[in-house]
Amino acid sequence: MLRETSLSPSDFIYPLFVTEGKGVRKEISSMPGCFQESLDKAVENARETVSLGVPSVILFGIPEHKDEKGSGAYDENGIIQRAVKELKSAIPELYVITDVCLCEYTDHGHCGVIRNGDVANDETVDLLVKEALSHARAGADMVAPSDMMDGRVGAIRDALDEEGFSNVPVMSYSAKYASAFYGPFREAAESTPQFGDRRSYQMDPPNRREALREAALDIEEGADIIMVKPALAYLDIIADLRSAFDVPVAAYNVSGEYSLIKAAGQLGWVDEKRVMMESLISIKRAGADLILTYFAKDAARLLNG
Ligand code: PBG
Repeated sequence: MLRETSLSPSDFIYPLFVTEGKGVRKEISSMPGCFQESLDKAVENARETVSLGVPSVILFGIPEHKDEKGSGAYDENGIIQRAVKELKSAIPELYVITDVCLCEYTDHGHCGVIRNGDVANDETVDLLVKEALSHARAGADMVAPSDMMDGRVGAIRDALDEEGFSNVPVMSYSAKYASAFYGPFREAAESTPQFGDRRSYQMDPPNRREALREAALDIEEGADIIMVKPALAYLDIIADLRSAFDVPVAAYNVSGEYSLIKAAGQLGWVDEKRVMMESLISIKRAGADLILTYFAKDAARLLNG
């Protein structure tokens, strides 16, 4: 009766990794229980997700072909564009969010176009706009830019409005840290940078006030939801954004956070289910309205009894 915080399956957004082919369901070795799936299998997975009361998925694509400019990201016939169409027509009630970034589509694995050894911000923003528009045209309900380029939220918002997609919200990865907790995701999405790292565009983990500046800029540019990523090592940042702004706050409980708990659970070193629920409730208690998590289905099953 006096419990201050509660979790519901509707708090969760479930990430899916979609790949080419048919009947493909390949487990990601560093993320037990998560799969690279062809579209037919992704539809089955999404159906199960919805039946557990989790209303939404976020899509990551593994394209057949990668190049310097990540052209698979904004190809009208790309893996994500086809996945959105397929999922929306098979499960109309499913809320489909797309991750907007180039790192899964570039041969060098960086989140943008490379000039003189580093990511070129403005040139990248133009491509992200093309990518977001192609997702909206395919029927995406919401777009989520995860690249951390400056000015991309405003540019995407303007372009969406101009093309008649003013009802498509933007969830911005506003405070995204250059984190080692993304390791397993990079195996899952085959997006490990081939040289250097992401520190010139992602945030430095010791910084706290910078997250407020990043979020303020994104909101000014039109972000509807702001996100903190990772979640567990950044609960202070979630709490800061929650108290500073009045827009919904999402938190990404990332791959490494998932894998640590899964691994220790498999070894019998911790009680996996309890650690999972305690972690998720801490993210909610810190102030997140939404949690992107690979635990979405496991946690929903527990919550549903
Ligand atoms: C793409 C992106 C990343 C994640 C989500 N979108 C990886 C990265 O920045 O390297 C990580 C998610 C996770 O670790 O679960 N930029």
